[in-house]
Amino acid sequence: MSDYLLEMKGIVKRFDGVPALNGIDIAIRPGECIGLCGENGAGKSTLMKVLSAVYPHGSWEGEILWQGQPLEARSIRDTEAAGIIIIHQELMLVPELSVTENLFLGNELTLPGGRMNYPAMNRRAEQLLAELQLSDVNVVLPVMNYGGGHQQLIEIAKALNKQAKLLILDEPSSSLTAAEIAVLLEIIRALKAKGVACVYISHKLDEVAAICDTIVVIRDGAHIATTPMAQLDVNRIITQMVGRDMQQLYPKQERTLGEVVFEARHVTCFDVDKPQRKRVDDVSFALRKGEILGIAGLVGAGRTELVSALFGAYPGRSQAEVWLHGARIDSSTPLKAIRAGLALVPEDRKQHGIVRDLDVGQNITLSVLARFARFSRLDREAELATVRDQIGRLALKTASPFLPITSLSGGNQQKAVLAKMLLTRPDVLILDEPTRGVDVGAKYEIYKLMFELASEGMAIIMVSSELAEVLGIADRVLVMGEGRLRGDFPNRDLTQEMLLSAALEH
Ligand SMILES: Nc1ncnc2c1ncn2[C@@H]1O[C@H](COP(=O)(O)OP(=O)(O)OP(=O)(O)O)[C@@H](O)[C@H]1O
Ligand SMILES: [Mg+2]
Repeated sequence: MSDYLLEMKGIVKRFDGVPALNGIDIAIRPGECIGLCGENGAGKSTLMKVLSAVYPHGSWEGEILWQGQPLEARSIRDTEAAGIIIIHQELMLVPELSVTENLFLGNELTLPGGRMNYPAMNRRAEQLLAELQLSDVNVVLPVMNYGGGHQQLIEIAKALNKQAKLLILDEPSSSLTAAEIAVLLEIIRALKAKGVACVYISHKLDEVAAICDTIVVIRDGAHIATTPMAQLDVNRIITQMVGRDMQQLYPKQERTLGEVVFEARHVTCFDVDKPQRKRVDDVSFALRKGEILGIAGLVGAGRTELVSALFGAYPGRSQAEVWLHGARIDSSTPLKAIRAGLALVPEDRKQHGIVRDLDVGQNITLSVLARFARFSRLDREAELATVRDQIGRLALKTASPFLPITSLSGGNQQKAVLAKMLLTRPDVLILDEPTRGVDVGAKYEIYKLMFELASEGMAIIMVSSELAEVLGIADRVLVMGEGRLRGDFPNRDLTQEMLLSAALEH
């Protein structure tokens, strides 16, 4: 019997003849946690989809040995039966179904006679969520009632409900806060102690360093290195990932800020389900020309609700007075908001960011199509030139603008959404978790772009759960907690601890 739980040998996966994986070897022992690292588009998710038979045996080359035996799985059902459980990078929840129904999808508990055993499932669902210290979720409500961070935890709970020998976590923490990530890492440690192996994929390299025993780095579909974590640190992982040293993570530029251009007054949002409950409670703030304003806070603090209300995109009832250049504007719908000079890059690119049926280029020009109208036709050449320009500017990795947007890696989809909103040339750009799932190199490019835009006079609001990023980028930081403004700090001598304690204060 082999020492290894899993061996993948010489894995090659092509899309339309173009190799995304070029002969990758990887081996995992029981109880071992592998950190799979690489830039956006390196092939991490593809490799894990090969392993979990999202791409079935026969659609790739190479060999998978599971507990020493060849594994020729035809579907994710086969791999789940073997004990390979994957948490996908893109959430797979069904928004209209309840939390419980999602947790048990395909795995339902039934009563004799075949009817669903809802009481038992609800009880188990509550238990699973309690393990993740998620106390404010009502398991009988539809999943769509909950925000990105909660949905991510629900997805994790769904995986924990299955019997895993190998748990694959593909960017599990991109919308979790530090406290939630700590809980997740604790759970993984407990699973490891029981002999469960993990593959952990995250662009938050601190987490990778904290939890993983071994780091596998891939670049452009090729294996670069397999190294025990004990011989590495975060900087050396970055060097292996990008193929060069990165001294500086935040390209901060000193700028002089202009006059106040934007004001939000008395923003209040009411809960979609419990209309008497406020998710955002009377928040007011102002923004100056060229300023980058960070908004920090824990999940559920009301940050996403606040910015979507400013942009007319809050799903429930909300009130907001929005002022631009000293005049009150109507931003009660996203279209009106864009016309008035605002742009929002939403947190959840799958639901609100990309149009899955369109190609990369069409997604980018979607918001400004009118600009290419020549009489009754579209000027395709001008459109394509703009698309190529945006692709270059953001270093968006795609073989062609005509590929389906869904064929891009997660981080590159994020860049496409950013490109789209930048084309509207807004006065105020609102970014909700702009670097979520984006690799270190690409993050640097996005920050550089933010500084460029700010020095051209754009005012930028950035909601981010990564405190290091907020401190690295923002001129000023608002801290929210339970729907209220808990602090407004100029970013001078500010620390993560100060932001956290403001977020937690009562
Ligand atoms: N369905 C598909 N059709 C065509 N190309 C694809 C498809 N899925 C992935 N690719 C390509 O394969 C390469 C690897 O993508 P993958 O999603 O595995 O990257 P990743 O390492 O997970 O990146 P990220 O960190 O952004 O999630 C990319 O160049 C991507 O465009
Ligand atoms: Mg991926």
